Amino acid sequence: MILIRRVTLAMLLLLSSCQFLFCQSALNPAIESRIDDLLKRMTVEEKSGQLAQYDGDSAPNLDLVRQGRAGSLFNVFGADRTNAAQRIAVEKSRLKIPLLFGLDVIHGYRTIFPVPIGSASSFDLDLIQQSERVAAKEATAEGVKWVFAPMVDIARDPRWGRIVEGAGEDPYLGSMVAAARVRGFQGSNIADPQSVIACAKHFVAYGGVEGGRDYNTVDISEELLREVYLPPFHAAVEAGTGTIMSGFEDLNGVPATANHHTLTDILRTEWGFNGFVVSDYTSVKELIAHGIARDSSEAVLKAIIAGVDMDMAGGDFGTQLPALAKSGAVPMTVLDEAVRRVLRIKFQAGLFDNPYTDPRRAHDDVLSSANLQVERKMAQESIVLLKNQNNLLPLDPSVKTIAVIGQLADSKADQLGPWAGNGNASDAVTPLEGIKARLPNANILYAKGADILSMEKVYKNPGLYGFVPAPTTATGAAGASTEATPADLQEAITAANKSDVVIMVLGELAQMTGEASSRASLDLPGKQQELLEAIVATGKPVVLVLESGRPLHITWANDHVPAIMQAWFPGVQAGNAIADLLFGDASPSARLTISWPRSIGQIPTYYNHKNTGRPTSETRWHTGYLDESKAPLFPFGYGLTYTNFKYGNLHVETSTINPSETLSVSAEIENTGQRPGTEVVQFYVHDRVANTSRPVRELKGFQRVTLAPGEHKSVEFSVNANDLGSYDPDMKWVVPPGTYDVWVAPNSAEGITGTFEVSAK
Ligand code: NOJ
Repeated sequence: MILIRRVTLAMLLLLSSCQFLFCQSALNPAIESRIDDLLKRMTVEEKSGQLAQYDGDSAPNLDLVRQGRAGSLFNVFGADRTNAAQRIAVEKSRLKIPLLFGLDVIHGYRTIFPVPIGSASSFDLDLIQQSERVAAKEATAEGVKWVFAPMVDIARDPRWGRIVEGAGEDPYLGSMVAAARVRGFQGSNIADPQSVIACAKHFVAYGGVEGGRDYNTVDISEELLREVYLPPFHAAVEAGTGTIMSGFEDLNGVPATANHHTLTDILRTEWGFNGFVVSDYTSVKELIAHGIARDSSEAVLKAIIAGVDMDMAGGDFGTQLPALAKSGAVPMTVLDEAVRRVLRIKFQAGLFDNPYTDPRRAHDDVLSSANLQVERKMAQESIVLLKNQNNLLPLDPSVKTIAVIGQLADSKADQLGPWAGNGNASDAVTPLEGIKARLPNANILYAKGADILSMEKVYKNPGLYGFVPAPTTATGAAGASTEATPADLQEAITAANKSDVVIMVLGELAQMTGEASSRASLDLPGKQQELLEAIVATGKPVVLVLESGRPLHITWANDHVPAIMQAWFPGVQAGNAIADLLFGDASPSARLTISWPRSIGQIPTYYNHKNTGRPTSETRWHTGYLDESKAPLFPFGYGLTYTNFKYGNLHVETSTINPSETLSVSAEIENTGQRPGTEVVQFYVHDRVANTSRPVRELKGFQRVTLAPGEHKSVEFSVNANDLGSYDPDMKWVVPPGTYDVWVAPNSAEGITGTFEVSAK
């Protein structure tokens, strides 16, 4: 009975959502009538098959394709393979419906780009878009038409390994980056043979997992959901993303893959999304483990009623839906609507007319020198300069002897990061290779110094090996891989002592970050901290290049090392881009997209927090810690350049606006240093009084501004007053009247400031 009521409610919502279906993109009547025609001819098994995706092109999977019982294949790439499977679908299956080939193209297909948190640090939307265009061109050349990207989850907790896949902590930046990536992937038309269908994931609030533990529970307010986690998805939908992936997590008691409120009420009814929703990998089946379904039949029922259209890899839609539809538990209208959404994307993507990939394309389109150039620029723009005492950087390229120290300096695979599509480690330029190529006449001494932990051992026994050094045993077996042998360490010290300057490349192995790679400590893994301290003790000038997918615990380094660069994982051109920056052929311009904690106890730390009732006080009775500052080590938006910028003349051109007007603010930015540089000028707003408490600052704009020494420029920001609003306690969007603060700023903790008023009408 309850079920019937829910189903009826779902149908009503579906019907009511139809009025919005035209919001996302106007539907094409010719496509809709071809879908009508197909739906009339499809059996329930064939309909269910369109909603089933299978992993790989094994014989049993290809048999399902032949029977018309598979709509999509995952992890099948290379034109020969995709064409072979496609031939079965369009030549051997009864209705000849083409397959959709999907793949995780997270930061490039073969030309691997910086991990997403790195590319987002560029704040360069055009370049981000261009890099996804490259990824789309390469992926489609090898038969992939659908990418499981962009990952647009906001994340405030660096313990969560998947923070590496997103654009950081800020919903405004996250939205801008999400839209740029969708535009890059999809181009102006998904039927373009060089365009892929995007998939914004993981809907929604997956980044809020408790304790930073992957797949964990998320319990958040509707306000936080709407103000922080939903905006990047909305931006992706507005940019036309063809698909959305539902998340793994339990969201406020209803797992994201069965969450009608988010998947239907918000995504379809409020936003008018008319693409399709795919579950995450086996997340339909996982509704059983979540404890909201007794068996896979009930899991399928809950998922499809909530708004999931395709089951990724689990096989349950394929096996359970026919019976559920025949019994009426899943109304035929619900099944048909899901099939319609999948077919619509296939028609829009031109698959019925052009199902095959020209195998000759790969030769020209994949890993071309033009693609590598885009990657090198993206990598240069992704690396954040955190510290540069006494302008140690850029280094003089005529330096005679350099020590390059650290396992990561000489590791090709790690340059690619954790999720390297069809990337190949042999394509990567390591930091050591990049430095050698830049300085062919210098004496370059390489020493590993210390092994980083073996991931195999960590996976086998995380409790024992964790990321702290394992105890040495009598035989050395347990601790062998984590021990910096005296010989390794000594070799590094000797190299440092012989050199004019030391470049240390330390951090995490790529596999220490990403999915199922949460950490309870942010320390440098293995013996790297000891190595760092030993090398600093030599008294030689040290540049620390960090490679990691998250902020690490580097307070000691920040106190003792003169120059620090956060390189993330820069992709195939890593070594060249790092050398470009180290020797001043390019200038750092990236900014942190997440607040960098001083210690793990501060987490979550994010710039757009609320003020609290006791923000500061002369006495101890204010919010904070007894044993730690509450400020991050580096704030959101922070990053140095090789020059200095002065901010002045803040001018609020519209000192009072009504809710339908536009706010305009300008400021003068001057390069007061000796070298050209690019500043990411940031624009923040704070609403002083509203009916819900507001963050102390919210990013509302940014611009990359390149200035020669002595040059200055007026930078202007215009924002619609409506975009300065917030949700009231009834979740209604309002633009509260009153006084607002504005900042034009180099980061979220500084800037020049002014005020403006919003009038009631
Ligand atoms: C699980 C991940 O959460 C998702 O991001 C990915 O696209 C799928 N696996 C497929 O690999």
